[in-house]
Amino acid sequence: MGDFKTLTDMVRLAQSNLDKGDWDYLVGAADTEASLRRNRAALDAWAFVPRILQDVSNVRTATRLLGQNLRIPVVLPPIGSVQAFTPDGGSAVAQAAAEFGVLQILSSSCSPDFETVAKDVLGPRVYQLYLTGDQAWLDDQIERTIASGYAGFCLTADTQVYSRRERDIMQGYIPMQARTATGTMLDQGGANYQSTMTWDTVAHIKGKFDIPLIVKGVLNPDDAKRCVDAGVDVVYVSNHGGRQLDHTVACIDALPDVVAAVDGQVPVVVDGGFMRGADVIKGLCLGATAVGMGRFEALAAAAGGVPAMLRALTILEREIQISLALTGIADVCDLHADLVTRLQPLRPSHALSAFPLLEEDY
Ligand SMILES: Cc1cc2nc3c(=O)[nH]c(=O)nc-3n(C[C@H](O)[C@H](O)[C@H](O)COP(=O)(O)O)c2cc1C
Repeated sequence: MGDFKTLTDMVRLAQSNLDKGDWDYLVGAADTEASLRRNRAALDAWAFVPRILQDVSNVRTATRLLGQNLRIPVVLPPIGSVQAFTPDGGSAVAQAAAEFGVLQILSSSCSPDFETVAKDVLGPRVYQLYLTGDQAWLDDQIERTIASGYAGFCLTADTQVYSRRERDIMQGYIPMQARTATGTMLDQGGANYQSTMTWDTVAHIKGKFDIPLIVKGVLNPDDAKRCVDAGVDVVYVSNHGGRQLDHTVACIDALPDVVAAVDGQVPVVVDGGFMRGADVIKGLCLGATAVGMGRFEALAAAAGGVPAMLRALTILEREIQISLALTGIADVCDLHADLVTRLQPLRPSHALSAFPLLEEDY
């Protein structure tokens, strides 16, 4: 369960615990999966130019986001149907996040629902909502989010329509949250409210509700600027792990221009391909306050629920501490862009290329 020694072992364990449908839902992406591979290729292409002879005897990995302390600069992003990976689903992630000290963003597309998770598990978290109703429905959902004590509300803006994920289509796989009791596709019925979401939705939420708002799915610096102008509290750079629009820029490549556009006015979070401690450090060097790790979270959950998630986060923390010390920086908040440079990736990248030893006989 939670006794693996490396993150490579964690991935192996996760794969052995999942059937092919759930595994492909986890690692797969949209269309040709180019966005997914580009995320990883770009991360693989950034290389450190470390500093030496700095006192790193006491490295500090903690940061703050939305008024919350993060033990490491990591958030656990929304994972729909996370109950396919560990039976307690969103509650298991909530428990691991609270116990370890990172922020969970709970998906509206998983179970248990956000109010049950809030009752079950103490601890700050953010609620990410997919719109499945009109403005009155949205208002009611936000009121209930606030009443349940959530520290923030997240709109995912890159999912106007659901993409075509060929691994799932070819296997007839239906994500757990979209299945009926007999295993057929749930009839979502009526209008696609996600596709009607606009800047007016953002203005409406900011004008009416007193809860910090995260907009997730920003890649274009003009949109980042518009978020700031609209009073958005956190700009979240993401291409949904390559699961929505194919052939986007890599998230870590979009990050510097977004950070420049935001100009320090609000924190920037980034996700897309981050799997290891060194990846987290690269994201912070390029201006992120924290990094989201979606497949990492799902793989850890699949490796053995809460104990495995705690173990994975502990190994990740150690990797972050080591990378930090070896770049010659004592505090994650002092990382800066001069510590990285862009080179060629060593070999073709894919969803799991952060774990090259998977292909070896260890
Ligand atoms: C299995 C799975 C389900 C996801 N479900 C959601 C979701 O419900 N809402 C959302 O905003 N993003 C969702 N995402 C995207 C993640 O929140 C995150 O943006 C992405 O996983 C980051 O890329 P990474 O997996 O390479 O870390 C999902 C990702 C995965 C892998």
